[in-house]
Amino acid sequence: MSSTAQPSGRPRIFSGIQPTGSTHLGNYLGALKNWEALQDDHDAVYCIVDLHALTLPKEPGEVTRGTLDIAKMLLAVGIDPERSTLFVQSHVREHAELGWLMQTVTSFGELSRMTQFKDKSERSSKFVSSALFSYPALQAADILLYDTNVVPVGDDQRQHLELSRDAAIRFNSRYGDTFVVPEHRIPAAGARVMDLQHPENKMSKSIDSPQGTIGMLDEPKAIEKKFKRAVTDNDGEVRYDREAKPGVSNLLDILAGCTGEEPAELAKNYSQYGPLKADTAAAVLSVIEPIQQRLAEIDDADAAEILHRGADKAREVAVPVMERARNAIGLLP
Ligand code: TYM
Repeated sequence: MSSTAQPSGRPRIFSGIQPTGSTHLGNYLGALKNWEALQDDHDAVYCIVDLHALTLPKEPGEVTRGTLDIAKMLLAVGIDPERSTLFVQSHVREHAELGWLMQTVTSFGELSRMTQFKDKSERSSKFVSSALFSYPALQAADILLYDTNVVPVGDDQRQHLELSRDAAIRFNSRYGDTFVVPEHRIPAAGARVMDLQHPENKMSKSIDSPQGTIGMLDEPKAIEKKFKRAVTDNDGEVRYDREAKPGVSNLLDILAGCTGEEPAELAKNYSQYGPLKADTAAAVLSVIEPIQQRLAEIDDADAAEILHRGADKAREVAVPVMERARNAIGLLP
């Protein structure tokens, strides 16, 4: 099944975010900004992937807090529960069930090549769970359960998306046409926001770099300071060249992600780094401040209620697709 018409007549999009750490500018420019924009002309399904968060050890209760925090952030960013389905992965049991089936159509070799697994397992001084290794099979299940046409993500998810497509194609060829094979959608600017202090690394929730990471909840003064101190280079020329000038190009990318312009075009407006940093900080603040204001007005109980309603809507799609997969394999009804 390379595509399918959705009951709404609009293409379906699905995407997920982990309820760990604080949401940062990379999550926003790489994913959430697109999630918000795509709601109008797509049938949008957005998932807080709490089961994925368990691939690294957690304290009891930590995931509940993270789930509510991320739900409030998504609502503040503009995800509208009337127009989209917003829910928590563990509330829809079919994710775990299909996750197992997806492991059966994903090879050890494919999972071993995942750069995110290599990075995270090398960085972890603690316990490396087998779930961290098989994580992309659960991600494939998340996507395939909703007959998803398009998956809006940042660039770091490209490899996982390829694996989801391969798993769908393999399942379909083994058991007959069952799953829609999804496409990814990666934004032109902001798909890979880098750390402001270490522009060779992506901005990340799991790497401890407070000065290099712009949190969506950071104070405006702190954000200005972080941009002022952002690492650039010594040649003094403002040019968009991610290889040779990673720090400057990252600033241009962030500015472009906030304004909708082209990074290489924006570079022509600057001859010095100072004004580029100041304008980038101002553009980021103009995006972040209204989100912070909206977030302050949402409480935990409202967010929880929205998530429960979202799970009911999600099940309406996920249950029949799961049934289709069971029937295709021929598990005893
Ligand atoms: P997660 O929670 O790490 O990130 C959520 C989204 O933010 C994007 N992102 C970035 N974009 C640009 N620059 C950055 N520095 C940056 N850091 C993160 C990610 O690309 C992502 O779109 N495996 C996924 C969650 C997931 C999922 C799914 C996504 C589970 N199932 C099904 C799509 C479809 C993850 O850990 O995202």
